[in-house]
Amino acid sequence: MKFFVDTADVAEIKVLAESGLLDGVTTNPSLVAKSGRKMRDVIAEICALVPGPVSAEVAATEYEGMLAEARVLREIARNVTIKVPLTPDGLRACRKLTGDGAMVNVTLCFSSAQALLAAKAGATFVSPFVGRLDDIGESGMGLIADIMTIFRQYPYLKTEVLVASVRSPMHVVEAARLGAHVATVPPAVLRQLFAHPLTDKGLAAFLADWAKTGQRIV
Ligand code: E4P
Repeated sequence: MKFFVDTADVAEIKVLAESGLLDGVTTNPSLVAKSGRKMRDVIAEICALVPGPVSAEVAATEYEGMLAEARVLREIARNVTIKVPLTPDGLRACRKLTGDGAMVNVTLCFSSAQALLAAKAGATFVSPFVGRLDDIGESGMGLIADIMTIFRQYPYLKTEVLVASVRSPMHVVEAARLGAHVATVPPAVLRQLFAHPLTDKGLAAFLADWAKTGQRIV
């Protein structure tokens, strides 16, 4: 499973990229707004740090406007992935952009029918939002299971399922269990993936015993 980080915070991305575990980055207009910086600068810096796909979302809502914005965003770096909303215009733009050789992430997917449409439009990624579905009492992971089942029936569909709106390590583990291709994870949740109290406890005990030996390895 590929791990993307879901943030526009360049300092966070730099640290996470150094771990060697980051396969890509997703941003959205809210995350760029939170950064307080110019989108072009943020995306350029992220693309220089992470060679994998970096999603930059269009703000236009109609076809021609999306294509115009996509042209500008694609000039920033070769690994920019154009993020379009799951609307009729967004899917039309997706079809055109992938035909032109761009990577496209179709975002704001909340149903299996929508995911199927994104795949038919040739999306590189489709992003079902699991946390936001859980928030309204629906099952985010149920949606991922359903999409994976449907996509497996049609091996010629090359769209990757990018699990978004991830809120906890369990979301990541369950998505992996279902065979989802990618999870985009907020930095705090990514850090939680490393953590286990028995790891900390075990390491402390090993270090205490090592100190008693008085030895050094180097
Ligand atoms: C995905 O690409 C989105 O940026 C993101 O996962 C949205 O998550 P949220 O529901 O926590 O805002």
